[in-house]
Amino acid sequence: MSSTKIFGWKLSNYIFNKNYTFDRKKILNVCGEENIVDANKVISNWKNYQPTPLLNLGKLSKELKIRNIFYKDESQRFHLKSFKALGGAYAVEKVAKENREITISTATAGNHGRSVAWGSQKLGLKCKIFISEYVSEARADEMRKLDAEIIRVKGNYEKSLEACISNSKANGWKIVQDVAWENYETVPKLTMAGYSMMIKEISTQTDHYITHVFLQAGVGGMASGAIAGIAKYFKRIPKIIIVEPENADCVLKSVDIGALQKVDIKKESIMGGMSCGEVSLIPWRILRDSVDCCTSVPDDHVAKTVAMLRNKYFYDKEIVGGECSTPGIISLIATCENKNLKKKLEMNENSNVLVIGCEGDADKKLYENLLSKGITQLSK
Ligand SMILES: Cc1ncc(COP(=O)(O)O)c(C=O)c1O
Repeated sequence: MSSTKIFGWKLSNYIFNKNYTFDRKKILNVCGEENIVDANKVISNWKNYQPTPLLNLGKLSKELKIRNIFYKDESQRFHLKSFKALGGAYAVEKVAKENREITISTATAGNHGRSVAWGSQKLGLKCKIFISEYVSEARADEMRKLDAEIIRVKGNYEKSLEACISNSKANGWKIVQDVAWENYETVPKLTMAGYSMMIKEISTQTDHYITHVFLQAGVGGMASGAIAGIAKYFKRIPKIIIVEPENADCVLKSVDIGALQKVDIKKESIMGGMSCGEVSLIPWRILRDSVDCCTSVPDDHVAKTVAMLRNKYFYDKEIVGGECSTPGIISLIATCENKNLKKKLEMNENSNVLVIGCEGDADKKLYENLLSKGITQLSK
C-alpha cells in the first residue's frame, strides 16, 4: 500500500469539546446501569449469540504508525449484519414482556427496523415499519423477510417517524423507537443499553487499553450506547472522537455550542443510517460532555474505503464493511494526516485505536455498487 497514492484525505471539519468532563456515574445514570447489566444478561442468552470479531488491522496500523487499530466487525452480528441487532430486538423483548397480542411499530433508515422486525418475529408479534422514500427496496425486502409490514412514506426520515407516531397512536401500536423525544425515553435507553454489548465484548477481547475510539453518529444512539459501555466496562477512559457525514453534523454543531442544534440536511449522505439532522435527547445528555472531539467527513472516500476493506489493504483477510462502516477509518486516516490534530489528540506509536465496523452488506445492492466504484477509483 502506498500512502501517497491512496491517502491525502482531509476531514471536512473538526472541533474540540470545551465542556468535556467524563463522569462515569452520570453517564450510567442517563442510560440506566440496570439496563446495561440486563441487556448483557438477556442478549448473551439469545440463540446463536456470539461476540462479533475484534480484528487487528495490522496493515493499516503499520501505515499510520499506530501501535494497534482494532476494528469491531458488526457485519457478523447474528444474521442481521449490523450492531443495531442488539438494540431494537432487545427493546422489543422488554416492551412486550409476556404479552403476545400487541403490535410493534417503528420508523427506520433500515438497520434499526430490521432489528425490531427480527425481535417481533422471534416473539410472534405483528410489526409495522415506516420508511422514507430514501430507504432502498433492498432494505425494505430484508424487513419483509422477517414478516414485517412495510409502510413507505413520502419525504425523509422525520416524515416517516411522524407517520409512525400518528398511526401508532390511532391504532394502539407500541412504538419501539431508537430516538427519544419528550416523554418517550425508556425505549431509547433500552436500545442504547443493547449497543453497550459491543463494548462489553471488546473489554474481554483484548488486553490492550484502548486509548482512542472513533464512534459514528446519526442521532447519537450508537455513540452514547458505546460510551455508556465504556463507562461501565473499561478501566481507563479513551479519547472519544465522534464522526459524522459533513452534511449531517448535528452532534458536532451541538457539542460546539454546548446546546442542541438542528441541521438542515441539504443533501442526504450515502451513509444513509447516519444522515440525521438532530441529536436524540437521551444520547445528547451523554454526548454533550463525554466526547473529546467531533469530526465530519465527506462522502468522497466511502466507496474507496469499502473496496480497501474488502481487498485486504488494511487486514490480511477480506472485510465486508458497508457504507456506515467506513467513516471511522476515514476519520482516523484524515486525523493522522493532520499533524496538529494528531498531536492534540496524543495519537502516536503507543496508541491503541478502536473503530467500529458497524455494518456489513446490509444493503447488498448498494454495497456491490460502492465496491465496484471503489475498485475503479483505486485502480486510477
Ligand atoms: C450501520 C449504522 N451505523 C451507524 C448508525 C448511526 O446510529 P445512531 O443513529 O444511533 O447514531 C446507524 C443508524 O441507523 C446505522 O444503521
